[in-house]
Amino acid sequence: MKKRIAILPGDGIGKEVTRGAVEVLQAIGERFGHQFSFSYGKIGGGAVDEMGTPLPDETTRLCKDSDAVLLGAVGGPKWDQIPVHLRPERGLLKIRKELDLYANLRPTLYYSSLADASPLKKEVIEDVDLLMVRELTGGLYFGKPSERSTQDGRDVVVDTLFYQKEEMTRVIKLAFELAQNRGGKVTSVDKANVLESSRMWREVAEEVAKDFPEVTLEHMLVDNAAMQMVRNPKQFDVVVTENMFGDILSDEASVLTGSLGMLPSASISEKGPYLYEPIHGSAPDIEGQNIANPLATILSVAMMLRLSFGLEEEAQAVEASVNEVLNNGFRTKDIASPGKKLVSTTEMVEEVKATILDNEATQ
Ligand code: NAD
Ligand code: IPM
Ligand code: MN
Repeated sequence: MKKRIAILPGDGIGKEVTRGAVEVLQAIGERFGHQFSFSYGKIGGGAVDEMGTPLPDETTRLCKDSDAVLLGAVGGPKWDQIPVHLRPERGLLKIRKELDLYANLRPTLYYSSLADASPLKKEVIEDVDLLMVRELTGGLYFGKPSERSTQDGRDVVVDTLFYQKEEMTRVIKLAFELAQNRGGKVTSVDKANVLESSRMWREVAEEVAKDFPEVTLEHMLVDNAAMQMVRNPKQFDVVVTENMFGDILSDEASVLTGSLGMLPSASISEKGPYLYEPIHGSAPDIEGQNIANPLATILSVAMMLRLSFGLEEEAQAVEASVNEVLNNGFRTKDIASPGKKLVSTTEMVEEVKATILDNEATQ
């Protein structure tokens, strides 16, 4: 199979983790006889520095002409004080909108080998398998106005939470479709006791549920959901929620796996191409030290193989190799524990690649 993949490394550890994930894709290509070609595009702070915009048109074009997109992360302190339209994060929001990536799937899995890496008790996280479905192109992130002004001599500010009903329907419907093929339960998270947008969200969830009689729908207020996520995460199967709640709850959910560096994601649209990225950011505090965990990005590549290319066996080969490497005790710093083998980013990538290729030799 031939596939064109756009690589947008972005800033900070984004560069380190995408480099590793590309090497893993190359190992998969080698083992299974696929030709993956990689074209690189600029996004984020680096693009601002070099081209004066966080999302150059040529990057958008490159993504639209590709079969799938892999993104690292954007942002960093260097660009925290620049005019808002130049912020690196704007580049990420814009590419999500340009590609109409309305749903962001963030799976959270329990890794038995990492039970000791999570601050939570093993009994609490054991066998967790939840899928967060985050609405990605609406809500507070995109509503207008979003600005500061002066009213009667006072400084005021407004951000707007805007949704079209149809934007809610499509992502909630997707959550039900996914739940149908998993545990058969959807938890819709909102703040319907306060927000009008959440009251509409809840109504839409009820409407969509009528078409899925075999799926159970439960509503949960977001503050309670944040608490339940660490108290009893096993109750969740598919969690669907609006953009900002999903952003916050998925960072929280990553702790169930052991680290933010373990959580992959797939952002999907009606017609493709889809975009894959770890849920974490550019991690300026560890940038350039070769200690970032590359597994979230490597697991994002597994999602790409499965969802964009229909290559299930190849996706499983990546996931099985990640599991094997963890079972063999290799750990980056974020998931380190006594008695395990502490490795760098590049060493972790080497282990995953070697396992992918070794498993071919022993088949
Ligand atoms: P962050 O996700 O970058 O980091 C949070 C903490 O987790 C840090 O201590 C970091 O070292 C650690 N961490 C993150 N990924 C890791 C990995 N793979 N391995 C080991 N440790 C890891 O969040 P932040 O510090 O709040 O934000 C930093 C910058 O990243 C900001 O500019 C923010 O806007 C941006 N950001 C970008 C994305 C994205 O591009 N999708 C996501 C989140 C944050
Ligand atoms: C993420 C990030 C982004 C978001 C930021 C950088 C715009 O936190 O991908 O989770 O909030 O969506
Ligand atoms: Mn986030």
